[in-house]
Amino acid sequence: MSDLGATLVSLHVPDRDGEDSDVVLGFDTAAEYLGDENQYFGCTVGRVANRIAEGAFELDGETYELAINNAPNHLHGGDRGFGARVWEALPDDAPGTVTYRLVSEDGDEGYPGRVEAEVTYELTEDDVLVIRMSATTDAATPISMTNHAYWNLAGHGAATVLDHELEIRANEFTPADDTLIPTGEIATVRGALDFQEAKPIGRDIAALVDTAAMGYDHNYVLHTGDTEPVAEKFAAGRFDARLHHPGSGRTMELYTDQPGLQFYSGNFLFGQAGKGGETYALRSACCLEPQGIPNAINEPVFPSVVLRPGETYEHTTVLKFFAE
Ligand code: GLA
Repeated sequence: MSDLGATLVSLHVPDRDGEDSDVVLGFDTAAEYLGDENQYFGCTVGRVANRIAEGAFELDGETYELAINNAPNHLHGGDRGFGARVWEALPDDAPGTVTYRLVSEDGDEGYPGRVEAEVTYELTEDDVLVIRMSATTDAATPISMTNHAYWNLAGHGAATVLDHELEIRANEFTPADDTLIPTGEIATVRGALDFQEAKPIGRDIAALVDTAAMGYDHNYVLHTGDTEPVAEKFAAGRFDARLHHPGSGRTMELYTDQPGLQFYSGNFLFGQAGKGGETYALRSACCLEPQGIPNAINEPVFPSVVLRPGETYEHTTVLKFFAE
């Protein structure tokens, strides 16, 4: 873990023979995490994950302008979002647990309100990683945080993630325009986008490489209303997504209370040098990012991401690792 970005730096998982590999992409130095080659590796994204159309929104009659750091849009909290900030590591007596706290001042990256955010990572004895996020504010503001880990269950630096099998328990997604902003429509998954039955990520990806997304970079709609508490889903094995690497048997189940799940197949990885001299080739990792639906602040039909004074934003995502 690192307090820079409240980042998940490495995670070692045994394969079916007990052989351990680090399954997340990352860097060896803080300087690299702050450099151009870092594409949000493992960090906590905020205030708002994914894109806000043209970096603008209206809230309670006021218009707010944010940084355009992914032209023509605002991406992942702006020029210096939560993932590029040094968080305060809070003392925690619970074994395997670390909590980070960040104050985002009123006007930070153009957002209104002073926000206090926390992220707790808890790694249990049974190889379960629980990520809990919370935030409060003194003025209405959008909040939709996520963890942006890049997974390769063969081990970071392995050439591709196209051989991983993925299941996503969502029959809907949010179609997006050429700048990856959702159109506001909620559509049924079909063909390449349908992961309701597990399939290799590479099986149908060819249909998407010549689109604006350049592969998978889509928001799946897990629910738009109330959801079952994560603890209940977890106890019943009702995961939202499951990633499996047949070669090693390593498997990750994801359980979340968030309405959206961005599945991104590492289409902008370009061969940067990562931890231990490994190279991160195009599509050598994927991200499964639970969050509010992208651009929800500008789309009243999507579940609201507005946090108001007196309320607490809460997000729990549970990742369970095992080999089969
Ligand atoms: C998210 C987005 C992608 C890309 C990556 C970071 O997953 O959906 O389009 O911006 O983050 O490179």
